[in-house]
Amino acid sequence: MKTTPLIITPTDIGSKDLAILKDYIQNHLDEILQKMLINGAVLFRGFDIQQAIDFENIALIIDKDLKNDYLGTSPRNIIEGTQFVFSASELPPFYPIMQHCEMSFLPTAPRRIMFYCNVAPQFGGETPICDFRQVAKNLNSDIKKELSQRRLKLIRNYCAPGREKQNSFQLKPWVDMFQTRDKSIVEEKCAANQISVEWLKDDALRLISTHDAFKIHPISKEEVWFNHIQVFHSAAAAIEYSKIARYQNTFDAWKVNIYLQFLTLFKRFTENPMERAMHITYADDQEIPIDYVQHIQDIIWENMYFLKWEKGDVIILDNFSTAHGRMPYKGPREIFVSWTS
Ligand SMILES: [Fe+2]
Repeated sequence: MKTTPLIITPTDIGSKDLAILKDYIQNHLDEILQKMLINGAVLFRGFDIQQAIDFENIALIIDKDLKNDYLGTSPRNIIEGTQFVFSASELPPFYPIMQHCEMSFLPTAPRRIMFYCNVAPQFGGETPICDFRQVAKNLNSDIKKELSQRRLKLIRNYCAPGREKQNSFQLKPWVDMFQTRDKSIVEEKCAANQISVEWLKDDALRLISTHDAFKIHPISKEEVWFNHIQVFHSAAAAIEYSKIARYQNTFDAWKVNIYLQFLTLFKRFTENPMERAMHITYADDQEIPIDYVQHIQDIIWENMYFLKWEKGDVIILDNFSTAHGRMPYKGPREIFVSWTS
């Protein structure tokens, strides 16, 4: 069954007032979290939530344990006047963000992730969500077995400080991700997250970690697709864009799609996979077949719910069951994010 968020509106609580909403969440928190466990997502829509600090206050009622350290791959900025609210992604609007459970590659991924719509996009820019329990159920059983047994290796290459302009496909410099220039702090943080560190020439950094493809939900004990193949595999963006082009059906989407198909093909024959910004293989270093990635993304798209943002929307996701992504967009769009331990 497709994820459909439980939607709470002013009709349900008798007012759109922010103070009343906060009281409601405080008094019904167990019930809301219980429903989130089943639905995977709870959306608050139609309330008087005007700015980032309102969102932060709501997020802190839902979970006091918010975090502001980030070991993911999206460029993010803290929102002024808040401690735990960030821009969801500073990636250019045409970039696809494939479905993922936040930081699934960390041994302690966030339990919950919450988004707030400060400025709704005019075209595109949905944040589709997807029940990764359902994805685990729908996957071809042979592919599933193979991925479970062979496990995954994730490779990420971060450029040296000041070298980010050389290649538009590279990740941010490691000093930005770790918020330090001290290599021993980087090594300590990586060790704590079971990530091995390789310092490369010119002060670049390679991170390598191995993972299971599936996770058992800690509360419901359901099996969940919990990895980043559909994000980090070299074929993933091109497969995603062919679906986006059909979904959006605009000249721009088809144009980017054609460009990405050629670029992906070109890179397959010219690039050393270990040098890519992000790469994912089986744990034994063998490549994961492209038709597996196609199958995984087909299943994900069959199970996606397209959340079309409205100003003031706040959505909470159970990050252990429910993934999120982003559709390309045009015009202004401000979506903010907070996450828990
Ligand atoms: Fe994310």
